[in-house]
Amino acid sequence: MKVLVVGSGGREHALCFAFQKSGKVTQIYCANGNAGIGKIAELVAIKPHEILKLADFAEQNRIDLTFVGGETSLALGIVDEFERRGLRIFGVSRRAAGLEASKSFAKDFMARHKIPTAAYKTAYSTVEAIEILEAGEFGGENAPVVVKADGLAAGKGVVVAKDRAEAIAAINELANVVGKEATEKIVLEECLFGREVSLILFADGKNFALMPPTRDHKRIGEGDTGANTGGMGTITDENFLSGEQTAAIIEEIIKPTLKGAEGEGFPIRGIIFLGLMMTATGAKVLEYNMRFGDPETQSILVRLETDLVEICDAVISQTLDKTGIKWKKGNSACIVLASKGYPAKAQTGDVISGIGEAEKLESVTIFHAGTGNDANGDFVTSGGRVLGITATADSLEESLKRAYEAVGKISFEGMQYRRDIGK
Ligand code: AMP
Ligand code: GLY
Repeated sequence: MKVLVVGSGGREHALCFAFQKSGKVTQIYCANGNAGIGKIAELVAIKPHEILKLADFAEQNRIDLTFVGGETSLALGIVDEFERRGLRIFGVSRRAAGLEASKSFAKDFMARHKIPTAAYKTAYSTVEAIEILEAGEFGGENAPVVVKADGLAAGKGVVVAKDRAEAIAAINELANVVGKEATEKIVLEECLFGREVSLILFADGKNFALMPPTRDHKRIGEGDTGANTGGMGTITDENFLSGEQTAAIIEEIIKPTLKGAEGEGFPIRGIIFLGLMMTATGAKVLEYNMRFGDPETQSILVRLETDLVEICDAVISQTLDKTGIKWKKGNSACIVLASKGYPAKAQTGDVISGIGEAEKLESVTIFHAGTGNDANGDFVTSGGRVLGITATADSLEESLKRAYEAVGKISFEGMQYRRDIGK
């Protein structure tokens, strides 16, 4: 069968890698991919927001299954368009994607279905947002508060402000950082405290299957300092959540989310990515993403033993309850290598050396994110996050050790990475 993966980052390379392992897949296409993906898939020059062109491509090339990597295409309704044309696709509908694409929609949904999350209020202008804070909501002048732009903002739309003055400054800056439309709806939230866990699951509308819990390191600098990024590294670890915690998340969050969405007419068939805060009073939802994470996917899919095509089939045909999903025991880690200047302004065109040597190490897989080829055919940097060096092992320590050993083999001008992933 022929599979099309939509996207161009490390997440999509990991998806192509998983499809390549499937005995059912004969040809992989990736729109629009990167140099590493180009080694295992045929690259197609269509961007994720060009959903009509993607549907045309799938029709003309008789693609049997399309898998959508990122939120842009989902929020634009790629799944609705494909399904309208009778094309098989894995991903959530436009309405379900709204749980990620609009924070106020997600918060109101959680309120309607009594899903634990931070207390919030939606403001419809910067003036109103500031008035709400000055009226003393979310604590006084010295209380921390979280400011969120309503729409998709590639990680730039959230500011955890330590006091009211910082929150007001963040509100006034939103238009500059995310764009003017970001000030038309602003969500203000109670600041939660605790440990963050990302829990990603497959859902077929009614049934679900959990993936190993992961943790992401979002800041560029060690010790969680410096600017926010798309993610500098992840680990998977079943010990992040106790059996009791998992059971509570299922009952209080996952089941009401699936039931609520179905009841409101947008059953969730695809992926739910729960950003959770483990507070003193239990797990609370920080955010919903309706797709795989990047770089969470890299560390998750290297542990997937079941054929990804079988899982996609089960989700699309709503038989996930009859499909056992097997994960490699132990742990995994993914260390992101980023280019010079990332995340402010990434320098590109630097030659990358050592990939071949690093790939020879046991249990190491290298996923490309921002890579291209120069005139000599060598890999060069072409984006902010360049590579995801991923390793599996029986323990977290060993998987980190293997991943960092592989990192040690790779170099390019100005290469940045965090030495404290998983710590
Ligand atoms: P989001 O995109 O909504 O997940 O927010 C990005 C990051 O901001 C999260 O990963 C958290 O670290 C932080 N964050 C978001 N909401 C809250 C909250 N209510 N309290 C504390 N931290 C938060
Ligand atoms: N790594 C965070 C995300 O994909 O949203």
